[in-house]
Amino acid sequence: MKNINASITAVGSFLPEKILSNTDLEKIVDTNDEWITSRTGIKERRILDKGIGTSHMAIQAANAIIESKKLDPLEIDLVIVATITPDMHATATAAYVASEIGASNAFGFDISAACSGFLYGMSTASAFIESGRYKKIILIGADKMSSIVDYSDRNTCIIFGDGAGAVLLEPDYEGYGVQDEYLRSNGSNRNLLRIEAGGSQTPTTKESVEEKKHFIYQDGKNVFKHAVSNMSDASEQIMNRNNLTPLDVNYLVAHQANKRIIDATSNRMGIKDEKVLMNIHRYGNTTAATIPLLLFDFESKFKKGDNIIFASFGAGFTWGAMYLKWAYNH
Ligand code: UT7
Repeated sequence: MKNINASITAVGSFLPEKILSNTDLEKIVDTNDEWITSRTGIKERRILDKGIGTSHMAIQAANAIIESKKLDPLEIDLVIVATITPDMHATATAAYVASEIGASNAFGFDISAACSGFLYGMSTASAFIESGRYKKIILIGADKMSSIVDYSDRNTCIIFGDGAGAVLLEPDYEGYGVQDEYLRSNGSNRNLLRIEAGGSQTPTTKESVEEKKHFIYQDGKNVFKHAVSNMSDASEQIMNRNNLTPLDVNYLVAHQANKRIIDATSNRMGIKDEKVLMNIHRYGNTTAATIPLLLFDFESKFKKGDNIIFASFGAGFTWGAMYLKWAYNH
C-alpha cells in the first residue's frame, strides 16, 4: 500500500475592504509612515467592520474554495479554524463556519496557537488525512485582530490587521504534500505577548476593562529576539533533517509579523530574497491568517513538486517550521 500524505489542493481567502493606512494611523497615535515602514515593512492593513465576527471572514475564505473546486460541502469531513479571536468564548467558531458553508457531515473545532495556529492546524489536519480517517479537511486561519487591539497603543496598533485564508487538505499517494514538521512551544514566556484578562485566571470585571486588560499586549523588543532565533532555528532544523540546501528550497512562506524578522530568518537559512514570499506591506500581521494568505496571493507562482518551507512564531510562545511539496499547477 502506498503511503498517504496530506496535500493542499486548493486555497481561498477573504480580506475586508476597509483599509487602515500608515497615514491614517498618524492621525490616531504618535507615529509616522517612515517609522512603521522601516521598522516593520507594513504600509496598510485591512479592518473588518464592528459587529461582525471572525466567522464572517472564515466563511468567505472557505466558500471561495468550495466554488473554485466545485466541491460538494457534504463531502467535507472536518473544518478547523485557527484563531485567537473566535466569535464568542465557549463555542467553536469552526462549528458555526461548518454549518454556514453547508458542511453538515463535518465536525469542527478551533485551534488556539496565535500566529502558529495555522501550522499547528496543518499538523493536526495532516495527521487525520495520513491516518486514512478523513479525506477532505478545510483548514482556515482567521483573525479579527482589530477586535483586541488598543488603538491608543502604538506598540501594537501599527502591526495588526484582519483577514482569513483557507486551504483544502486531501490525501496524496504520489509523495506530494506535507513531508515533515518541527513544532515547539514554551509557555514560560507567555506574559511577553498576551491578553491578560477575560480568561479563567483573571475574569472580566469593571476594573479589568477600565485598566485595558482585554487588549493585546506585547513586549515587542523581547518578542522580536525570540521570533528571530526560534523561527530560524526551526527552519534550519527542518532543512537539515530533510537534506535540503538553500538551492533546493523554492519558497519560504513565513509568518508575516515584521519584515525584519522574515529577513533575518531567510538570511540565516541562506534563502535568496526572490524566494521569500511577502505581503506584509498590504495586510500587516493577521496572526493565524498570514500563511494561508501568502499561499493564496502567490498560488499562481507555485509549481507541482516545489519545495516550500513554512515557518511561524507567535504568542504562547508557539513556533515551528514545516516542509511541504506543492501538489498542483495553478
Ligand atoms: O506575530 C506575533 C509575534 N510578534 C512579533 O513578532 C512582533 C515582534 N516585535 C516587533 O515587530 C517590534 O519590536 C516592534 C515593531 C513592535 C517595535 O519595533 P522595535 O524596533 O523593537 O522598536 P522599539 O520598541 O525598540 O522602539 C524603538 C523606538 C523607541 O524610541 P526611543 O526609546 O529609541 O526614543 C520607541 O519609543 O521607537 C519608538 N517607537 C515608535 N516610534 C514611532 C515605538 N513604536 C513606535 C511607533 N512609531 N509606532
